[in-house]
Amino acid sequence: MARICLVEHAPGAPGLRWLGLGPKLRPSRGLLKLRRLLDKHAFWARGRSPAQLRRMLAGSQVVVSLWRGKRMVGFGRANSDGIHRAVLWDIVVAGDLQGRGLGRRVVEALLASPHLREVERVYLMTTNSSGFYQQLGFSHASNQHLLIRKQ
Ligand SMILES: CC(C)(COP(=O)(O)OP(=O)(O)OC[C@H]1O[C@@H](n2cnc3c(N)ncnc32)[C@H](O)[C@@H]1OP(=O)(O)O)[C@@H](O)C(=O)NCCC(=O)NCCS
Repeated sequence: MARICLVEHAPGAPGLRWLGLGPKLRPSRGLLKLRRLLDKHAFWARGRSPAQLRRMLAGSQVVVSLWRGKRMVGFGRANSDGIHRAVLWDIVVAGDLQGRGLGRRVVEALLASPHLREVERVYLMTTNSSGFYQQLGFSHASNQHLLIRKQ
């Protein structure tokens, strides 16, 4: 398999947001590629507009992307207060490259970031990938309920 490059973006991912920067800070039409990746492989994140994606990135302290050449093949992001609580969001690997350890790379890079590594509790929500997260040290919170207020 061609080499996969993991990019740890600056907080808010300004380079990805405004210039579409990918590996080695090269202009790579990254925002468009992120949109395609989410549209195709992340059922909960379909149809996000470029403006929405920019706002989403701007509000995320930790942003990681995976690249195979010029193709974005993975993504993940997190919000954190740096000490007590953090949440992982939008973890995704392109369908044809799933099951090769790339999802693990994304989650481990998020957890190792300075914004997350000392956090007491890291939360995430998943519809059908809890087995994947259990392999990474997450467990079901049987004593808590997930509540949602929709816009
Ligand atoms: C979930 C996802 C990110 C996992 O990425 P991946 O690259 O396929 O996973 P990895 O190859 O890194 O798997 C790491 C380990 O978890 C296991 N695993 C992966 N997906 C799993 C699943 N759905 N259930 C149980 N175990 C799983 C793998 O077997 C592997 O175990 P091993 O280290 O013993 O071999 C990816 O499949 C994906 O993008 N799915 C579609 C989007 C999605 O549902 N994202 C989750 C949103 S919360």
